[in-house]
Amino acid sequence: MAEEKDKIFGSYSEKVMDHFLHPRNCGEIPDASGIGTVGNVICGDVMRMYIKVENSIIVDAKFKTMGCGAAIATSSMVTEMVKGKTVEEALQISNRAVAEALGGLPPIKIHCSVLAEQALRSALADYYKKIGKDPSAFEPRPDTHEH
Ligand code: FES
Repeated sequence: MAEEKDKIFGSYSEKVMDHFLHPRNCGEIPDASGIGTVGNVICGDVMRMYIKVENSIIVDAKFKTMGCGAAIATSSMVTEMVKGKTVEEALQISNRAVAEALGGLPPIKIHCSVLAEQALRSALADYYKKIGKDPSAFEPRPDTHEH
């Protein structure tokens, strides 16, 4: 049984397991500057991201994810990555960068990192709408990855 477990979890990096088992920034920001909610229609997982922006800098980010372990790990990592960045810098964060920061993901789980990128972009778009700027550059890109 223990051997079976290793076979299953062995395909994940230590960082993925760490962020899955000890997610950072899990929760809500009640007075968030932007909130983005995205879902994957195939697996049904849902991710919500909250960002707090002060003087164009993302000072806080939190998430709530109903989803797989990789979705939780990528939510946790992306919220860590955006803190201290400007809104424009945060727009440059790709799902690939999130997966790389986690030490990689199995190919079948790459779409989970796409969800994290989309949730971030959706929260950024919501922030732009709130401050009266054109949010189109921040709208989530369509998920082109196979499940
Ligand atoms: S299986 Fe749906 S986001 Fe991972």
